[in-house]
Amino acid sequence: MQEYFPQGLAIDESFCNRTNEKKALRISIEGNEHLVLVAPRRHGKTSLLAKVLEENDFPGISMDFFFVLTQAEVVKTMSEGVSKIITQLLPKSLKACKQLINTITALNPKLTFNLLGQKLEISTRQTTEKTISELLLALDQFAAKVKKSCVVILDEFQQIAELKENHAIEAAIRHAVERSQYVSYIFCGSKRHLLNEMFSDKSRPLYHLCDLMTIERIDSLAYHDFINQRAKKKWKKILSTDPLEEITHLTENHPYYVNALCRRLWHADKLPDLADVRTMWNDYVNQQGVWITDDLSRLSLNRRKVLTALAIQTTNEPQGQEFSNRVGLPPSTIKKCLDDLQKLDVIYVKSESYYHVLDPAVAYFIRQHAV
Ligand SMILES: Nc1ncnc2c1ncn2[C@@H]1O[C@H](COP(=O)(O)OP(=O)(O)OP(=O)(O)O)[C@@H](O)[C@H]1O
Ligand SMILES: [Mg+2]
Repeated sequence: MQEYFPQGLAIDESFCNRTNEKKALRISIEGNEHLVLVAPRRHGKTSLLAKVLEENDFPGISMDFFFVLTQAEVVKTMSEGVSKIITQLLPKSLKACKQLINTITALNPKLTFNLLGQKLEISTRQTTEKTISELLLALDQFAAKVKKSCVVILDEFQQIAELKENHAIEAAIRHAVERSQYVSYIFCGSKRHLLNEMFSDKSRPLYHLCDLMTIERIDSLAYHDFINQRAKKKWKKILSTDPLEEITHLTENHPYYVNALCRRLWHADKLPDLADVRTMWNDYVNQQGVWITDDLSRLSLNRRKVLTALAIQTTNEPQGQEFSNRVGLPPSTIKKCLDDLQKLDVIYVKSESYYHVLDPAVAYFIRQHAV
């Protein structure tokens, strides 16, 4: 049932809803605006962006900075990305291609042909931060020549903040992005704390370069419809209300976990009932127990105490007496733990200032095992 509820990107029919987010992204790209898209891990950032590019036929490329460890690797990732996107922008005719390529001679363009069409490779002699702005500016010039707007997605962008030369790289990117007329940039990532610092700290080069967009979990109604469409395909029937609501209740609408649970339920020959959903979730979370325990063991004792209390019951008054009694720590210590847990993306604040454990499997596991 991989295609119904994939572990990897949600594409085609496995993509649920996100209508408003898709529209907002389309409008922003069409207006050649730039965005920072932030959401916790496995919330569907990459799937959403891929969907928007596909549905709107925007020439676009996603550069992944997750494994980038040095400035030279940033330049390499960017030059590969720029090569790919310029290839998408190339006109069909060879003559026109050759003429256009003359506009980017600084990037040592090499045009090759095969059965699939033409392909452009560029190479940069240097790996300085100046090369980064040159690459991005050249892309904009090229897009301007062919009069086509395009999108550059810089995924896991917070990784740049971890590099030694981060300031210079961020400044080089700002230089190019500010001048861009045909390229729309989307900076994407999951470490909210690092991204916030990059884009909202006045002393950082990327300060207020673009608008912030966050994506929340998919709402229950949309999910119920979506899950039932898949049930009809598999069993020619829809799920009754209780098991259906239990799926979104247990997984807290977290797309990765909805898929993980449903993928397992959809292996069965019969339509799942409430007990099937509960048993499957329990088995699944317990299978992940080694990883969860390992993650929890990295937290200090006080942070674990606060996390456990939140997993058992959320609160919007974490510094009140009731919560302090429950955790067994003074409000000042609790405040410090909450800040740290938020920075680590282990907890998040939802509507009406309620503090929640971010990962529903972790929260469930704690509830099952807390003494
Ligand atoms: N709109 C959606 N409909 C259904 N499933 C989705 C949707 N978006 C994401 N998913 C599922 O959620 C999981 C995470 O998706 P994706 O990799 O796009 O998220 P991400 O935020 O980019 O993750 P990461 O933080 O690891 O980069 C996948 O299992 C994917 O199939
Ligand atoms: Mg991703």
